[in-house]
Amino acid sequence: MPNHTDKLDFPASFTWGVATSAFQIEGAAAEDGKGPSIWDTFSHTPGKVIDGSNGDVACDHYHRYAEDVELIASLNVNAYRFSVSWSRVQPDGHGAWNEKGFDFYSRLLDKLREKNITAHLTLYHWDLPQGLQDMGGWLNRDTAHHFAAYAAEVARRFGARVATIATHNEPWCSANLGYGNGQFAPGVADPVAALQVSHHLLLSHGLAMQAMRAVKAPAKLGIVLNQWTATPATDSAADKAAADLEYARSVQWFMDPIFKGRYPELALKAIDTTRLSIFENDFKDIQQPLDFLGVNYYFRAFVSTETPPRLPEAKLGLTDMGWEIYPQGMSELLQALHREYQLPPVYITENGMAEADQLAGGRVDDARRIDYVRSHLQAIATAMEQGVDVRGYFYWSLLDNFEWNSGYAKRFGLVYVDYATQQRTLKDSALWYRSFIARQRAGQ
Ligand code: NOJ
Repeated sequence: MPNHTDKLDFPASFTWGVATSAFQIEGAAAEDGKGPSIWDTFSHTPGKVIDGSNGDVACDHYHRYAEDVELIASLNVNAYRFSVSWSRVQPDGHGAWNEKGFDFYSRLLDKLREKNITAHLTLYHWDLPQGLQDMGGWLNRDTAHHFAAYAAEVARRFGARVATIATHNEPWCSANLGYGNGQFAPGVADPVAALQVSHHLLLSHGLAMQAMRAVKAPAKLGIVLNQWTATPATDSAADKAAADLEYARSVQWFMDPIFKGRYPELALKAIDTTRLSIFENDFKDIQQPLDFLGVNYYFRAFVSTETPPRLPEAKLGLTDMGWEIYPQGMSELLQALHREYQLPPVYITENGMAEADQLAGGRVDDARRIDYVRSHLQAIATAMEQGVDVRGYFYWSLLDNFEWNSGYAKRFGLVYVDYATQQRTLKDSALWYRSFIARQRAGQ
């Protein structure tokens, strides 16, 4: 076991968790009545996923959920964030519900309760039912209404059994990677479509919040956004302006409608809104009070207008995704959000790193991941000292899993998965996290 000293001190009530999502771990792609999602279609399209893999089996979590919950419990965490596969519970995304699909999540929730682990549910982690895609997907405004109906049904059934429900996970990615550059499902590359989709995602969030409140779901309701600070590469006016624009088009583009009922001016000035269908009344729907905000933080945006662009020094190195390790960005981001918005309680709903982990002699030595987590927890502690109300931290991810267009080649887990046997092995980082949490609880 590595010997890392931990001087960090979090409140006793702090939530310690791990996170996953349905498509990335469940497998059982066509079992018990599940309908296909856009990620089933996309990953089965040659050339879309780097290693040619798909989510048919993934971590086989659909069949191994009980064992996986035991694994979660063994980490000493008290919270688990997962997502519901919409097409598992409503195969076409509209019309009939699939009871067998709901049964799966009900069994999962029973098992979590048995282990005293609170459940944090996400409604949409990128796997739109293909049936809705066939009707235009998120470019079709009706999808927002279908989403609200799905949200209400999940909240009605599970709203008393989960601590939180998040509408969307990282809508920036659904819009910009799904419709902007086409790297993610459904694979459309059209920047105007991406903006329209981002608007419909925000609208669907607001409609879903209202629909869930109407069924009086006791769970706390919110949204999970991926966010970064944008650092200009140099002091030049051009780099600074580009960094401000980047921040406006990413963080503020989603935060402003929710918290201020409008899009940020700076971003609006840079786009041709006449090609978008956005109604003034939509902001009334979008601007619903949040019970919590989920923040996913992985890296900062480093913005350079030079050709070729300047790259960050990356003093702490890069992850296996090629992402700069920059923990300071986490405290800077949280402080910036705190200054700019009236924030509800915040959860860090994702943070983690991919490493080229190897299993050797029954052990995975991932010391760099331990440093990564410690330094980001330190950054969170700094933000909390400055007044940001952070209530919990979820490491991404519990398990190595299907990393979207990177397939199984990138390993984010605290737990190593041998995909040939589905054997799970706790990495050194998992052992560290477990003892770190135990020490926090003991007040040491
Ligand atoms: C954010 C996404 O929510 C998650 O699905 C993904 O695996 C991680 N980032 C790592 O890229």
